[in-house]
Amino acid sequence: MPLLQVTNLRKSYGKHTSVDGISFEIEQGRCVALLGPNGAGKTTTLRMLAGLLQPTSGAISFDGSHPGMDYRRALGYLPQAPAFYGWMSGMEYVTFAAKLSGSGSKEAASMAATAIERVGLTQDARRRIGGYSGGMKQRLGLAQALVHRPRLLLLDEPVSALDPLGRREVMELLRDIREETTVLFSTHVLHDAEEICDDIILMNRGLIAEQGALSQLRSKYSLPVIRMRTEKNDGALKWLETLASKPFIVEARLSGDGAVFNVSDVEVARRSILQEAASLDIPLLQFEAGSSTLEDLFMKVVGA
Ligand SMILES: Nc1ncnc2c1ncn2[C@@H]1O[C@H](COP(=O)(O)OP(=O)(O)OP(=O)(O)O)[C@@H](O)[C@H]1O
Ligand SMILES: [Mg+2]
Repeated sequence: MPLLQVTNLRKSYGKHTSVDGISFEIEQGRCVALLGPNGAGKTTTLRMLAGLLQPTSGAISFDGSHPGMDYRRALGYLPQAPAFYGWMSGMEYVTFAAKLSGSGSKEAASMAATAIERVGLTQDARRRIGGYSGGMKQRLGLAQALVHRPRLLLLDEPVSALDPLGRREVMELLRDIREETTVLFSTHVLHDAEEICDDIILMNRGLIAEQGALSQLRSKYSLPVIRMRTEKNDGALKWLETLASKPFIVEARLSGDGAVFNVSDVEVARRSILQEAASLDIPLLQFEAGSSTLEDLFMKVVGA
């Protein structure tokens, strides 16, 4: 039985639909990336799962319970832009969060100390949050989300606002955390998802464009492909366009001076394209024959 089962979840604001009837399941112990560009509906979805936003329709069932059962105690949630009281210390804040989840003072203090240690903030626990760096705040947010040992962690863009160093710290932490609990985290960066996740749910414009285990999606989308780029001149760009209608090209995606072609036979396509480029004296800057990647899938979904 999945830990979380979501069926036809929808959220509309007047005429605008942010989440358009999505269904998915999360198995216990998995790390799942909710991947999609800005405005895809990730935050709206996570807020509905966290019980902070009433769905327009659809059902959410946690651990086999009746849809509508309150499972919030079993959740940890880190919002996209967490707001902290700058005057509180990190320890006070996490203790406060533990109390909110129903623990008594003494228990809350010891749980908070454990969570703070977990995220590597013990040294800074007594400092005011106002003096924390972005990465420290994000780790504090994780401590808050983890403190009551939730069964499912919902993290909204936990690394997007961080510089490369902060990002690395939090990714390393997530890599550990995912060993202990089920995680659903949103990101608009495919690379983040590939780094630590088992599964992805790719959203765009309120819909799920693709979902499944990363390993399965990798092989599913591993198709023969040719990527090329020419100098930016009209003749070359026109030529790229004419290539799109060649019989060996299954699907073409042109973007300015570049093109990505899914092809039926890489050898045939390579020979034919390179011969034509030579005879027409096309200024090729880049030519690559290989197989497509999840990045191609992501760009296709996002660019559509
Ligand atoms: N309270 C609201 N009222 C009206 N429209 C909303 C509201 N909240 C979100 N939306 C719209 O719903 C769509 C999805 O927004 P959402 O914040 O879920 O996207 P997202 O995938 O989290 O994007 P981002 O990557 O920018 O965080 C957007 O078009 C947004 O403008
Ligand atoms: Mg968002």
